[in-house]
Amino acid sequence: MVKLSCVHQKNEDEPGSPSLQEPRSPFSASKSKVAARGTHVMKIKSKVELRKNFEEDQFRKANLKMLNLPPHVGILPLYEVLEDDAHYFVVMEKANGGSLLSSLVEECPDGVMPELVVKRLMREILSAIAHLHQQGILHKDIKADNLVVEVNDEPTSPGGKIRTVKLIDFDLSDPDWVPDSPGTHGHNWAGTKQNSAPETFQGTFSQQSDLYSAGTILYLLMTGRWPHNDDLFGDIEEFDEDLSEISQRMLRVNITWNDSCWKHHPSCQDFCKWLLDFDPEKRPASAVVAARHEWFG
Ligand SMILES: Nc1ncnc2c1ncn2[C@@H]1O[C@H](COP(=O)(O)OP(=O)(O)O)[C@@H](O)[C@H]1O
Ligand SMILES: [Mg+2]
Repeated sequence: MVKLSCVHQKNEDEPGSPSLQEPRSPFSASKSKVAARGTHVMKIKSKVELRKNFEEDQFRKANLKMLNLPPHVGILPLYEVLEDDAHYFVVMEKANGGSLLSSLVEECPDGVMPELVVKRLMREILSAIAHLHQQGILHKDIKADNLVVEVNDEPTSPGGKIRTVKLIDFDLSDPDWVPDSPGTHGHNWAGTKQNSAPETFQGTFSQQSDLYSAGTILYLLMTGRWPHNDDLFGDIEEFDEDLSEISQRMLRVNITWNDSCWKHHPSCQDFCKWLLDFDPEKRPASAVVAARHEWFG
């Protein structure tokens, strides 16, 4: 069992193990750095940066919750989180298949991604999201970059390999979300603009906003593009404190559905439209409900 004290406060009279209790960072203070060695990955997060954005408490709480999360095949577990005066060090297993997109290029070298592969991925992603939500965590930054892949030998599989997608990067997660409660309302937006639900720009996050983000991944896998052009979001800095204008723009600019892939896969289109509905109330009520869509058969 993982100790609740896993977010480890290093103190002077505590001996600790030399390799992990006294980590030495080659990095100067910056947003975050990920260093991989052998079978492990260490993510280094500057306390100065976290404090500047008033994110340290949430970061500690989210990591503590992740350390104690009941295991799920679609979520990469954390081994340990350590800290010194200036940094947090998040240690986890390294996914041997690398990032989702690089793994897909390897799996589908001709660049054509069969619908079955996309369906398998979406089923796995929804299962991971459902587990997180059931444990009272909103991810708030679901995107292709935050999915990695583990590859294992499986002689009975086509290609002799089995690939499993895993969710990572819980830095922005809300660890205080009550399962099945309505969204949380704050003043701050956090996330990645192309993957963010419209209401998040007004500070509202919910399981439906995580599902919208999953929808942006499906849209990308099917069309090769994001649902909205980059210029819709402009330079986020230009909006100063009020990002609600972005959500208004997302209401005015319809997502296009005329790519030929949708004609060939109407049930997938129906599912993607459901996830990407502007109105969170019209999206699936939960990841479990989403996975019951007829597209999954
Ligand atoms: N455990 C891991 N296994 C394999 N690759 C990883 C792992 N953790 C991170 N990465 C790679 O490093 C990138 C950045 O890691 P992430 O935790 O998302 O940090 P950031 O906060 O910078 O987004 C990911 O997009 C992924 O490609
Ligand atoms: Mg990330």
